[in-house]
Amino acid sequence: MPLSALSRTLGTVATLVALSLPVAAQDMSELGRLTEEWLSSPHGDYTSLSFTYWNKDGEVPVACAACHSQPGFIDFIGADGSTAGVVDHAAAINAPIGCASCHTSAAHALDSVSFPSGVVVGGLGTSAVCTVCHQGRQSGISVAAAIGGIEEDTVSADLAFLNVHYGVAAAVMHGAEVEGGFHYPGKTYAGRFNHVPSANTCVACHQPHTTEVATDGCMSCHRGVESIRDIRTRHQDFDGDGNNAGGIHTEITGLHRQLYAAIQAYGATVGKAPIGYAYGTFPYFFNDTDGDGQISPDEAVFPNRYQSWTPRLLKAAYNYQVVQKDPGGYVHNPTYMLQLLHDSLESLSLQVDVGMSTLRRP
Ligand code: HEC
Ligand code: HEC
Ligand code: HEC
Ligand code: HEC
Ligand code: HEC
Repeated sequence: MPLSALSRTLGTVATLVALSLPVAAQDMSELGRLTEEWLSSPHGDYTSLSFTYWNKDGEVPVACAACHSQPGFIDFIGADGSTAGVVDHAAAINAPIGCASCHTSAAHALDSVSFPSGVVVGGLGTSAVCTVCHQGRQSGISVAAAIGGIEEDTVSADLAFLNVHYGVAAAVMHGAEVEGGFHYPGKTYAGRFNHVPSANTCVACHQPHTTEVATDGCMSCHRGVESIRDIRTRHQDFDGDGNNAGGIHTEITGLHRQLYAAIQAYGATVGKAPIGYAYGTFPYFFNDTDGDGQISPDEAVFPNRYQSWTPRLLKAAYNYQVVQKDPGGYVHNPTYMLQLLHDSLESLSLQVDVGMSTLRRP
């Protein structure tokens, strides 16, 4: 670890011990261990894009600061005495999510969190801090609002891709309650995935300092699997491939692949503009200018972003990205993932060929 990083961290820790840290932290060797754990985690990664993206500007803007800068988070939850729920100032760059993010009296007291849909969820306990940052930045409500009264299959220059953002585990875990995905009218969606009491909150599964999940505990209930991605408790074939041997993860990835194919078919035929997805490049959907089915590096550039959106395509692409941006979705809320994918495919199937008859909606 860089020495400068360590001294910054310990500087913060010294102040914290005086404030809100539990008694155990007063043991310095314990503190050293916790600091090592944290520095090895993504939250303590000073070099990550999540904490360096704004370095050229010199500050993290108000819209981004709550989740991408420790002082921004402190400002957002009101731990600095400012109003809670808003960021008042642009915040420091190179300021990852350290001890003072989660261990102030305001952070310890935080119990309810407002989601992008406007829904407030309470009773979150020690997972409340996680929920603030891992809730995404859009919701099914914002998708519906963007679409307004535009006819389903009309290409409109008023439409642009809406990105749910990254690491959206909390939005997925709470499912229908917080409407992180786009919900098709007339369908009902799974609410919070309650799993089992011992694996029902962020910090019941994720160690808060390393953020890692101890998977040995999973195997004590889910016996006979090599990897957690092989876990399944339901035996239906949701993705219609005739195979129910793999984990529930394979059903989700199977539907996700089919949704991508349907999005491409729809873009080419109804939108009259071939579309493709570039992993990790904002804003993700681009014109497939040479129609080869792939987005090459020279196609994955902002001026070539996809702009032939119809309401039907935008909704499906939004849900595609919700599933894409929660790689743990199969654990956080598998039913919700399957429902969003199924219904997005069903909507596109009104315009392009999708083998709906073999798909099952849970
Ligand atoms: C509600 C919290 C939240 C807000 C507000 C937010 N982000 Fe993020 N952002 C996250 C989280 C969480 C991640 C990391 C997810 C992960 O790695 O699993 C992330 C990751 C990123 C990344 C890294 C993506 C990558 O490929 O590694 C960029 C860039 C980013 N955000 C840009 C922004 C910008 C720009 C804004 C403001 C306009 C913003 N974020 C506002 C929560 C937020
Ligand atoms: C992302 C939020 C987060 C960050 C960052 C964080 N903690 Fe924690 N910490 C928690 C949560 C949540 C718990 C409580 C876990 C529980 O009760 O299940 C906790 C528990 C603790 C405890 C109680 C005993 C233990 O070992 O779990 C100590 C001490 C502690 N943290 C110190 C620190 C120090 C020192 C740092 C910085 C190096 C730090 N924490 C960074 C969230 C965080
Ligand atoms: C202040 C905002 C914030 C808080 C609070 C927060 N996170 Fe994060 N989390 C982030 C950001 C930003 C990243 C991405 C860091 C990076 O790219 O290095 C991240 C990364 C992660 C990752 C790794 C994702 C990946 O791409 O590998 C996990 C897992 C995670 N957080 C879980 C948690 C849990 C559990 C808690 C609560 C104990 C929590 N987070 C609290 C902002 C936050
Ligand atoms: C039942 C246990 C469980 C619960 C509850 C849970 N997670 Fe996860 N989470 C996992 C597992 C396991 C993975 C990794 C899945 C994989 O990669 O195959 C994961 C993945 C993640 C990731 C993505 C890591 C990556 O590789 O990009 C983030 C971020 C995350 N969880 C945050 C959270 C937050 C925040 C909460 C609470 C809202 C939460 N998780 C609740 C088990 C859980
Ligand atoms: C105490 C026992 C227990 C533990 C521990 C446990 N689970 Fe589960 N898990 C269950 C039960 C019971 C279900 C079925 C819940 C339901 O469908 O309502 C389930 C469902 C699941 C599913 C969905 C399977 C499907 O077919 O939809 C996944 C994925 C999963 N667990 C992963 C995990 C992971 C990963 C861990 C460890 C972080 C874990 N579980 C820990 C009992 C447990």
